Amino acid sequence: MPRVAYVNGRYLPHRQASIHIEDRGFQFADGVYEVIAITDGKLVDIKPHLDRLNRSLGELNIAWPVTRRAFGLILGEVIRRNRVSNGSIYLQITRGVAPRDFAYPEGLQPSLVIYARSTKKASVATASQGHAVVSQPDIRWKRCDIKTVSLLPAVLAKQAAAEEGVADAWFVDEDGIITEGTSSNAWIVTPKKEIITRQTDNLILSGITRQTILKLASGAGLTFTERPFSLEEAKQATEAFTSSSTALVKPVIEIDGTPVGDGQAGSITRQLIEHYLNYMDNPS
Ligand code: PDD
Repeated sequence: MPRVAYVNGRYLPHRQASIHIEDRGFQFADGVYEVIAITDGKLVDIKPHLDRLNRSLGELNIAWPVTRRAFGLILGEVIRRNRVSNGSIYLQITRGVAPRDFAYPEGLQPSLVIYARSTKKASVATASQGHAVVSQPDIRWKRCDIKTVSLLPAVLAKQAAAEEGVADAWFVDEDGIITEGTSSNAWIVTPKKEIITRQTDNLILSGITRQTILKLASGAGLTFTERPFSLEEAKQATEAFTSSSTALVKPVIEIDGTPVGDGQAGSITRQLIEHYLNYMDNPS
């Protein structure tokens, strides 16, 4: 079955899905995106994702390409046409097409690209498989709260991790504080069993999975604090994990070659994986 993508009003086979060479997303990374998990054909946390998209667009003064209602219908149609039961949807909105000039003209028609990808449904067993990370200097700009397609620092950090033979990198700022993962939020569990994740501000993306995990942790009576934590503290942690719409809750079992805890997914991480997978099946 050919995969179908939505591009500016048309549903096209991937091979024919393309954008203009003067699209500002292509030339200036002048655009925003979202990645939303799909479970049993349904989008997980669709409302907060679209709220965050609305905020990203607003911060960059880019208009919605279609109404929010039409947007929801197109997302559903892309899932249907690709028969995705489990996986994720990728959507990107750029400022649109214009002759190359750094300043942008008013009134451009924004470009919209949406496509979906199937993956196997996560189980507690598959989701509990941990991975190693290395630290990388956070060389990003000061508006990481906007989900822009300008992702070169993340590309380079993830590539550096791959070249060291590990799955991902955690960004560390100039004070030795971990900001977040290349495409995920970072978490640790202290020896006192307290769950820690950095507070949200302009230096990290406010993850939708992160918000949901905080709600689930609170509902389960787990103790958590939103505060900065250093690379050194992370190496002393008993557990660590990342969260994102694609990685869900992913145990981090080694940081810069130092095993975290006993080098396996910890018990609080496992509890959160179970809660999160249940939530995906029965969102509330
Ligand atoms: N990335 N931090 C960054 C820098 C991210 O790029 C992402 C998501 C997150 C987690 O956000 P959420 O829980 O809403 O997915 C945090 C997506 C998955 C990506 O770029 O593929």
